[in-house]
Amino acid sequence: MAWIVKNSAAAQIDRRDQPYLDQDLKTHIETDVLPRYPTKRAALLPILHAVQHKHNWIPYQALEEVADFLDIAPAEVADTATFYEDFWLQPKGKYLIMICQSITCELMGQVNLLEKVKAKLGISVGQTTTDDRFTLMTAECLGSCDTAPVALVNESLHEKLTPENFDRILDSLS
Ligand code: FES
Repeated sequence: MAWIVKNSAAAQIDRRDQPYLDQDLKTHIETDVLPRYPTKRAALLPILHAVQHKHNWIPYQALEEVADFLDIAPAEVADTATFYEDFWLQPKGKYLIMICQSITCELMGQVNLLEKVKAKLGISVGQTTTDDRFTLMTAECLGSCDTAPVALVNESLHEKLTPENFDRILDSLS
C-alpha cells in the first residue's frame, strides 16, 4: 500500500465576505446549544450540525469560524469534522439519495436499482448532478430490511423500491 500525501499546507480555502457562522446562528447556539454542555468545546458536534443544517454543508471557512467562536484550534475542528461521515465538507445536492447496499437490500435488487438511478441522473456514487439537485450515495443497513430494497432521500425513507417506482419518486421531487 502506498501513502498519498496531500499538500494541505498549500491548500487554498475559498472565502466569502459574509460569515457562515452569522449572528442568527450564534444566537441560536448561545441560547439553545451551549447551555446544555459543561464547556463550549463540548458543544462542537451540535454546532457543526447546526452549521450544516443551515448551509447544507460545512465549508472550510465555517470550520475556521467555529474554531474562533469556541477558542480552539481550527485543526481540532477539522479533525472532528473529517472524522464523521455525516459532515459534508463539500457541497451536496438539494436531495441526498442514500441507497442501502447491505445484504438484504442487495439480495432484493439494490444493485439493479442503483445502476438505474446512476443512469437516470448521469452520476456515479459520491457525485452531485450539475444542477445541484441530487447527490447519490450508498449506505449500510438502514434498519428496514423487511421492506428491502430501501433508500433515504434526505430524511424520508422509501421502501420496497423498484427502478420504476423510485423513478417516479425522484420525478415527483420539486
Ligand atoms: S439491508 Fe437494507 S435496510 Fe437492512
